Amino acid sequence: MAGKSEKEVIGNFEVSKAGLVTRREILAMGAVAAAGALVTPAFAAGTASAPTAAAEPYVAKDFSGLQGKLDGLSASQIEQHIKLYKGYIGKSNELRSKLKDVDLTSANATYSAVREMLVEQSFAVNGVIYHEFYFGNLGGKGGDPSGELKSAMEERWGSIAKFNDFLKAAGKSVRGWVVVGFNTRGGFIDTFGLDTHNIGSPANFVPLLVLDVYEHAYMVDYGIDRAKYLDAFLKNVDWDVVGKRFSIARKHPMGAEATI
Ligand SMILES: [Fe+2]
Repeated sequence: MAGKSEKEVIGNFEVSKAGLVTRREILAMGAVAAAGALVTPAFAAGTASAPTAAAEPYVAKDFSGLQGKLDGLSASQIEQHIKLYKGYIGKSNELRSKLKDVDLTSANATYSAVREMLVEQSFAVNGVIYHEFYFGNLGGKGGDPSGELKSAMEERWGSIAKFNDFLKAAGKSVRGWVVVGFNTRGGFIDTFGLDTHNIGSPANFVPLLVLDVYEHAYMVDYGIDRAKYLDAFLKNVDWDVVGKRFSIARKHPMGAEATI
């Protein structure tokens, strides 16, 4: 039972004693959010050196491989969307840099430079992260998920067909993002709708499948016909990526009652 001794159950979670979540797994998430939220035991225990922050820590991932490869989402549509994503990269770096020298003496909750930078940094950074989740879960063949993810989704929605109906309804109901994710506190799959990047984004929630419903995500191809875009989105979901995110999320160290 060697394999069994390497893990323990904390609350609803099976956790590896050797490493709650490895850096490799974090990188597999393809998300800055995951890197920020999921810590290795070495860092948690203070036995490893903290990483040195780069001058510009936000670096655009290359999603150009999606251009011309998707069913129902044109190369031009994706190209424009990637340009927008890179804008958030730039502003995230800019705000991080400028916050080092911002005037602290004028701090004020109605208006001040530090307030505006802090609020807009959350907008810019979440704009980076949610787009990376979004592009990262495109490029597949749609259809159904598999394995434990499929079982968890069927438990939640009854069937994948019902999930698809739910996702499309959710996509018609919000103005920014639909985020299907893993609630680390409850250990179940949950869904949140965000009207903008930085409002309504819950803590203790690891995104699994991210859907962008801002008009810029589909105007090039579909004008204002969001329903057609939602059909196209579902045809291009990479469920293997979503399944890997689910596997990693279930080891989240913030799970169970780990919050201190
Ligand atoms: Fe977008």
